[in-house]
Parts: sequence; structure tokens; C-alpha cells
Amino acid sequence: MSHQSPPSYEQAGKNQHDAYWMPFTPNRAFKADPRMLVSAKGIYYTTSDGRKLIDGTAGHASVNAGHCRPEIITAIHEQVKTLDYAPAFRWGHPRAFEFANRLADIAPDNLNRVFFTNSGSEAIDTALKVALAYQQARGQAQRNRLVGRALAYHGVSFGAISVSGLGDNRKQFSALLPHVDHLPHTHGLAENLFSHGQPQHGSHFADALEDIIHIHGAETIAAVIVEPVTVATGIFIAPEGYLQRLREICNRHDILLIFDEVITGFGRIGARWACERFNVIPDIITSAKALTNSTLPMGATIVREEIYETINNSAQQHAIEFFHGYTTSGHPLACAAGIANLDIFAQEKLFTRASGEMEKYFEDKVHGLRDIELIRDLRNIGFLAAFDLTPQPDQVGKHGQYVVAECFKRGLLLRAAGDIAVLSPPLTITKAQIDDMFAILREVLQTLQMSIQPTLPNQEVGCLV
Ligand SMILES: Cc1ncc(COP(=O)(O)O)c(C=O)c1O
Repeated sequence: MSHQSPPSYEQAGKNQHDAYWMPFTPNRAFKADPRMLVSAKGIYYTTSDGRKLIDGTAGHASVNAGHCRPEIITAIHEQVKTLDYAPAFRWGHPRAFEFANRLADIAPDNLNRVFFTNSGSEAIDTALKVALAYQQARGQAQRNRLVGRALAYHGVSFGAISVSGLGDNRKQFSALLPHVDHLPHTHGLAENLFSHGQPQHGSHFADALEDIIHIHGAETIAAVIVEPVTVATGIFIAPEGYLQRLREICNRHDILLIFDEVITGFGRIGARWACERFNVIPDIITSAKALTNSTLPMGATIVREEIYETINNSAQQHAIEFFHGYTTSGHPLACAAGIANLDIFAQEKLFTRASGEMEKYFEDKVHGLRDIELIRDLRNIGFLAAFDLTPQPDQVGKHGQYVVAECFKRGLLLRAAGDIAVLSPPLTITKAQIDDMFAILREVLQTLQMSIQPTLPNQEVGCLV
């Protein structure tokens, strides 16, 4: 029998990039001009044409400890030699219990019960299901309404898009969760332009929850879900006092408060969790991304003990208490990666690295770009920054795309949401590397500024995503 190798893609008249349907990507444009990343180390990516890029995004705010950490690679390697997989339902393995305990140790207050998922979206679905199951378990099944917020991004599952506040992510899909309301977003106040850290104005936006309660009755609302800082759509930081006010209203009406910390957790804003930095403790926290440094996919929903107990105690002894789970919940390799990642965070003090002197250094660099006329707003917290560019009047989003493409050419990977360029570098970045990152960004913004002279019209600040 002859063993012929299959024809190459070119011989078969196919494009090697055809088969892969890329997520959240203009597939046709990408495949006409692919931008490929082939390796990574520390804060750098290497492209297929051998260029080194600063990862100004930390892989979508995921790789907080830097790329290709040997400690995580070794932990995964050791684990896969010992136990590659164990069924998650009705069987246990030590790594899942160990990692859950470690997470409970770093979670605030009595949020000490951990449900593992495989992504942030699944962590959100899990949190919403926990909230509904809890209300039912305590005899309040009529509390089946969920409250999200405009401009929020909680992922792509049907639960996540229902509580998110983004039209584009829903419009192709007609079926959404019923009984969902949205708070207004907190962005766009002229008084908050060029703010450093938490903006001072806007705590009153929380009062919109009272309006929703007034319309539907508090006794119909199970939970409110917000991101302490919305990142995916352009860095919108909760104004001072806003989260406190939401907490107070939820307490008064016995409504659960969920913080989506898929990005804001794990040191992104200079603390273990944003809720610790902002001093407002929710009832449920969702995590993913930096949970395992994104070396392997994983998410987690961390819940107050009494919520877990209430759901458990409502079921018969020996019965399954919560009808939910994923085949690869608490996967041994992901747990091993997560434990090694936590060790790195402890050894290198990464939880607080984006605070104090380093945060100030980053902040000064961000606001150092204020002289560029094209920039109509800047904001920062921890290692998160947004550069809000005045859009080209006839083509919103074009300036953002230009900045991403030009930075890529000159050695910096960043992200744009419309005309808002966003930085979220790995927490391990040094001052010298921060300097390099901002030198490239300044060069690109100045080039763009010069190409669009005469002076741009002074447009109203608003949200473009
Ligand atoms: C705040 C937030 N929640 C949830 C998600 C969804 O996470 P995943 O893409 O892992 O499903 C994201 C993703 O960017 C996010 O930013």
C-alpha cells in the first residue's frame, strides 16, 4: 500500500486560512492580509515575519503574569503526566479542591465557594443561574428578573449577551433571556474628562436601579450584574461612590449584587479584585482570563457561603443540589496552571504591582499624551488606559483602526473599541518597557494628527462603541 502525503493547500487550490472561522474578526479582511503571532515570551509576541511586538493588551487582559511562564508550563507538564483528565460530575480530583481553596483564600469576606467553568461567558451564565436558583431555594421564585448595564460586555453566551449592553452582540440572535433590564452606563460626563483613576462624578447613575425597582417591584428582581470597570468597550471606570450606592440599594431590597471581575480581578487595577480596591463587596464574583494566565482556558464563579448553603439545603439529602456543570469544569491541567499562577502572583507581588509607584508611572505616561489634539479624553486605572480619539466625521472607527494597524507595524499590539484605543499590558512590564510602549504610541498618534490637519472639529464627547 502506498502512503502518499495529502496534497498541500496550494496544490488543492485551497487557501490555508479558509477553514478556521475566526471569532469577532472580519474574516475576509483578515484572510486577505493575515496578521499572525507565532510565539511569545514575557511581554513580547513574535510575528510570522520575525518581528517582536510589545503586547500592550496582555492578550485581552489575560496574560497578567507575562507570556510562557516556565512555572506554569512545568506545572501543566507534571499534571498531564499524572492525571490528564477526570470526570467532573460525581468524581473529584485533588487539584480542583486545592485550587478552589486557594481562590477562596484570596476572595473577600465569605465568598468562599467556587464553581469552575471554561470561560468568562460560562462564569457569567453560572452566576446568573446561581442567583436564580438561590432565589428559588429561599422561597422567592418570583425574583426572576436580572439587571445588567448599557455598554457592559459579559461575553457571548445567551445569558451573557442578555445582561450585556451591546446591540451588535445581540442583533443577529433573536432569542435572549426574558426579564432583563439595563441600568444606564456611567460614561460621558464632561466633568469627568481626563480623569485619573476613579472619576469623581456620576454616583447618581446608580439611582436608576430605584427606577427599575419602581417599575417592576423589588420582589421580582434576583440580581444586578456590573463590571467595576468596563474594559472591552473602552475603559469605563465606576465613578466614586457609584458601587457603594448600588450595594446599598441592593441591600435595602434584598437583591444580589454580582461583580464581573473577568478583567478587573487578578491585579489588573492594583488589587486582588476591583471590589477590594473600591471597597464594595458583592455577593458573587466572576473570574476567567488571568485566572490561569490564559495558559489554559478556565473561568470561576465565586459565591458567598450562605448562597451555596441555601441552595444545598433546599435539596433532598443525596440529591444533586444544582443542575449545572461542564464536562471540563475544574479540568486538572487548568487547575495546575491556576495554582502555579497564584504562586507567581504571591512571589512577585503581582496583585499590587499596578498600584502605587508603578500605577503613577503608567498614569503619567497616559496623561503625557494629552497634548495631542486628536485625543478628546484619556482615562486610566491600574494598568488600564483608554485614549479616546476624535472620530473622522464620515467614518467612525477609522482612527482607532489606523492606530491599531500602525502600532502593529511599529512594534506594539493594542486594541481599539471604535475610536477608543485601549492599553492593558502584562503586570510584569518594566518602566523601560512602558517607555517603549508609549514612544510607539506617541509616534503613531502624532503621525495621524499630522495627516488630518487642519484642526479637527471639536466634537461632543460620547461613546462610540
Ligand atoms: C468583563 C468580561 N466578562 C466576561 C467576558 C467573557 O469572557 P470569555 O471571552 O472568556 O467568555 C469578558 C471577555 O472579554 C469580559 O471582558
